[in-house]
Amino acid sequence: MQNSYKRIDAHLSSLGYCTRSESKKFLNKFRVSISGVRVYDATKKAYHNDITVEDELLDPESLLILMNKPSGVICSHEDAGILIYSLLPQRWQKRNSKISTIGRLDMDTTGAILLTDDGALNHKLTSPKSEISKIYEATLAQPLRGDEAEIFLSGTLMLNGEKKPLLPAKMEILNPTLVRLEICEGRYHQVKRMFGAVGNKVLKLHRLNFGTFSIEDLNPAEYRIINYSMD
Ligand code: URA
Repeated sequence: MQNSYKRIDAHLSSLGYCTRSESKKFLNKFRVSISGVRVYDATKKAYHNDITVEDELLDPESLLILMNKPSGVICSHEDAGILIYSLLPQRWQKRNSKISTIGRLDMDTTGAILLTDDGALNHKLTSPKSEISKIYEATLAQPLRGDEAEIFLSGTLMLNGEKKPLLPAKMEILNPTLVRLEICEGRYHQVKRMFGAVGNKVLKLHRLNFGTFSIEDLNPAEYRIINYSMD
C-alpha cells in the first residue's frame, strides 16, 4: 500500500477533499489531524496514513472498486448520458488521478465492472495478455440452433473486421434462449458479435464476474472497495 509523504494541501486536493486553494479554509472548517494532533497549516508535510479528517482516515491513495453496473449508465468520461462515475461519491469523482473503468460494458449491459484510478493496474488488467476470465449470462432472441458451443470452443471463430480468431470460449446452456458464456478476452461488443456470428441476437447481457471478483453480494449500482497490491 502506498503511503506518500507530502504537504497536507497536496494530499487533500489529490484525493478530492478540496482544491489546493481551498485547503486553508478546509482546515479551519474540518478537524484535520496528523497522528491525532490538529493542524491548521496546509503546507505541513505528513504521511498519508497519519492524517485524519474528523477522526476518519483519508481515502486510500489508489482505489480499486467493484461495481454491479446497472443498465442505462455509460462507461465513458465523454459521452452524453448518465456516466457510471456519477454513482460514486462526489469526492472520488474529484480525485486528480481520474477513476476509469477497467474495460467497458455497453450501456444496456449489467453486472461486474472494476474501476480504478491506478493507471498501471488498469493497463495490466486490460492487456490482451492478461486473459482474465469473465462470465456472462446472455438472453437470446432465438433458441440455440445446437452448434454454438462447439463453434465458440473451437478457437477459430472470426468476427467481422478482425484479423485474429477469438480464443476458445466455454458456453453452458441454461435453457434454449439463456446461456452462460466464459470468455477471456475483451473485444469490442464481443458477446453480442459472437452471437451475431451464429445468426442470433443478444437481448440481455449480464456479467457475473471479472476474474475472481464476483458481484453476488452487490445490488445494482452498489460497489465495494477491493484491497489490492500490484505484486
Ligand atoms: N460483450 C458485449 O457485447 N457487450 C458488453 O457490454 C460486454 C461484452
